[in-house]
Amino acid sequence: MTTLRLGLIGLGNIGRHHATYLLDGKVPRCELRAVAAPSTAKTAPYASRGVATFSNGLELIGSGTVDSVLIATPHPSHVELGIAALNAGLHVMVEKPLAAHKTDAERLLEVARLHPELCLAGMFQLRMEPRYARIRSLLEGGELGRLQRVTWINTDWFRTEAYYSSGGWRATWQGEGGGVLLNQCLHNLDVLCWLLGTPTKVRGFVHLGRWHDIEVEDEATAFLEFGNGATGVFVGSTGESPGTNRLELAGTRGRLVLENQRLTFIRNESDANEWSRTTPTGFTPPPVWNCELPFENHPAPHAALMQNFTAAILDGVPLIAPGEAGLASVELANAIVYSGLTEQTIAMPLNGAAWEQMLSELIRNSNRKKVVRMGATADFAASFRR
Ligand SMILES: NC(=O)c1ccc[n+]([C@@H]2O[C@H](COP(=O)([O-])OP(=O)(O)OC[C@H]3O[C@@H](n4cnc5c(N)ncnc54)[C@H](O)[C@@H]3O)[C@@H](O)[C@H]2O)c1
Repeated sequence: MTTLRLGLIGLGNIGRHHATYLLDGKVPRCELRAVAAPSTAKTAPYASRGVATFSNGLELIGSGTVDSVLIATPHPSHVELGIAALNAGLHVMVEKPLAAHKTDAERLLEVARLHPELCLAGMFQLRMEPRYARIRSLLEGGELGRLQRVTWINTDWFRTEAYYSSGGWRATWQGEGGGVLLNQCLHNLDVLCWLLGTPTKVRGFVHLGRWHDIEVEDEATAFLEFGNGATGVFVGSTGESPGTNRLELAGTRGRLVLENQRLTFIRNESDANEWSRTTPTGFTPPPVWNCELPFENHPAPHAALMQNFTAAILDGVPLIAPGEAGLASVELANAIVYSGLTEQTIAMPLNGAAWEQMLSELIRNSNRKKVVRMGATADFAASFRR
């Protein structure tokens, strides 16, 4: 195969974004051959450009027109569509989150394991951002020494009531399986686990519908512990404005801070623990160097991740965000909410079946009547910032 034939399932906010750069030829060797959406008003503009159109994802998957699919539908359908595509012999890129909850994600991964010849990848485009790649390489290179603490405040995901009423599935237990953690902050949870691994202990505090008329969490704070003993605090909110996006990583060799488009590294001249053991003075910290680490934002991170997906299939290069790596973020999002609602500390791995059962009860007991109002997402591209 020299060119990948791609089918796009879902033509909502992100689906249309994917379609635009694909049709503009921003992903060489990947051709958008088919789209699926229930509304002909949405598919018609693509039909006029020679793209095959289908009224739902399963029809597209069975059509024989494509070698791969990009699934851009609401989260609960990711697994059904992903499994159908893998069983039809198609490579799959699935939008984040991998699934609405951990055990569902595991079902998809189980089927992927039966098809080692196929690629399953997740759309975790923050992994393409040079700032996070830089932090990752500093951590891997031991530049921070022993990691002591991570703090990530992610309260710049401001959303309005109009946003939440723009889709019947949004911010409902049934339609999403969670709130700010599973939708907006999922990108940050993915980066956190990509940088540091999955935490070993989680204690979450969540507020359901604190700032919006919704049933799921729109504010969350989690205390985390990692395998090496490092501690963490993660804060997410869609109700704060102006919000903060500050990632701080403190290690024995210094502190990295990413905030306001600046990555700074205050580097200890010597390991702080070693200094503490050997210095004769009582209060003096080790001398430091102040370093500024310049970076550019990636101009098209989604297209770049699709480029990697294409190259993985055509050339066998490794996936940057393989499907199995997508489990960590959905598990952590679920664990924080489960911990918050049960007021327990969770020793990871999360008991996915217990959360699935609680989620089913939340769905069963939901009595919200959602009023859907279209047209609130014209400024959607402004959501790709962090
Ligand atoms: N990676 C990112 O930057 C990013 C950004 C936004 C959304 N997302 C993810 O993408 C997914 C979709 O989000 P959105 O904001 O585009 O939602 P949306 O509601 O705007 O669009 C979803 C679309 O999927 C369609 N759809 C549902 N089931 C379908 C099926 N079986 N076949 C074909 N079409 C179907 C719906 O008609 C709708 O038009 C979510 O899982 C979300 O988390 C990712």
